[in-house]
Amino acid sequence: MKFYFAPMEGITTFLYRNAHAKYFAGVDQYFTPFLMPNQKRIFRTRELQDVLPEHNQGVHLVPQILTKKPEEFIKTAKELQKMGYDEVNLNVGCPSKTVVSKGKGSGFLNHLEELDEFFTEIFDKLDMKISVKTRVGMYSESEFGEILEIYNKYPISELIIHPRVQKDFYSGKPYINTFSKAVKDSSNEVCYNGDITSVDDFQKLRKKFPQVHAFMIGRGLLYNPALIRQIKGGPALSKEELLKMHNQIYEAYKGYVSGEKNVLFKMKDFWSNPVKLFTNYEKYAKKIKKAQNLKSYEQAVDALVSEQEIREAL
Ligand SMILES: Cc1cc2nc3c(=O)[nH]c(=O)nc-3n(C[C@H](O)[C@H](O)[C@H](O)COP(=O)(O)O)c2cc1C
Repeated sequence: MKFYFAPMEGITTFLYRNAHAKYFAGVDQYFTPFLMPNQKRIFRTRELQDVLPEHNQGVHLVPQILTKKPEEFIKTAKELQKMGYDEVNLNVGCPSKTVVSKGKGSGFLNHLEELDEFFTEIFDKLDMKISVKTRVGMYSESEFGEILEIYNKYPISELIIHPRVQKDFYSGKPYINTFSKAVKDSSNEVCYNGDITSVDDFQKLRKKFPQVHAFMIGRGLLYNPALIRQIKGGPALSKEELLKMHNQIYEAYKGYVSGEKNVLFKMKDFWSNPVKLFTNYEKYAKKIKKAQNLKSYEQAVDALVSEQEIREAL
């Protein structure tokens, strides 16, 4: 059984993933948030920083690429291969309107012939593992049969399925029956992704899909960074280790992004999930959100961790 930390643009940066990996073992693979090459350049500065091997020591990282142009995918994958990566992941899931309107991300699912040609070309030109992270359609899960027929034509190293459609964004419930169909009909290995936020969520899915070898978790890990450890039967999250992870990320962002406001923005984002693990968290969450400078931010965090405890029933 393998566990993956889902890519989340703007959140699961190398600074975040290094801190997570240091304090919470158990993630078999991390994925970079999407890298978006264009005609002029392969990586933006921020993207290059994120994939540099020296910034990812000791973590198994799979870089993810978002493009609909085979030549851009190939060029980026080859550059990553030179850095030592043996796998790249194609994003066919991003639901953002600006991405979808260009036929990329889940928008690719609206252009199946193009997707088919894209795969023919990248599998012909690349000699490395290519995995895919996909939704099950643009508008309706009934689209998935046709989509899977295309995926089944290629030696995709792993098909990571978030069983929602583009128009759902992140609302509603994952289409479990469509995921079942994928498990049954996919000729490639399948990984499940979506809405696992507790040990119980995981166990229900595990029971339903005993043959699935990998599960990817995103928001559940932002909320409870120890979730995979708990799934494996280990101890629940402690306040001390959450604080250690926080401190590492905080120091790292202070050294990496310029300006107090940007550091504050990142750290408010960090707390937006795990703050809910604490008893009586509402007033502390508000204080953190309202902090105008790092000093008041630190005071708000100090008050939360010194005055409240992590709830027992996680
Ligand atoms: C803020 C945010 C950013 C995301 N960025 C990416 C991304 O860069 N690439 C990607 O494939 N999925 C991205 N996703 C989707 C997640 O990887 C994942 O598929 C989704 O959150 C469902 O899994 P979860 O319910 O375990 O969070 C993002 C999701 C969120 C909420």
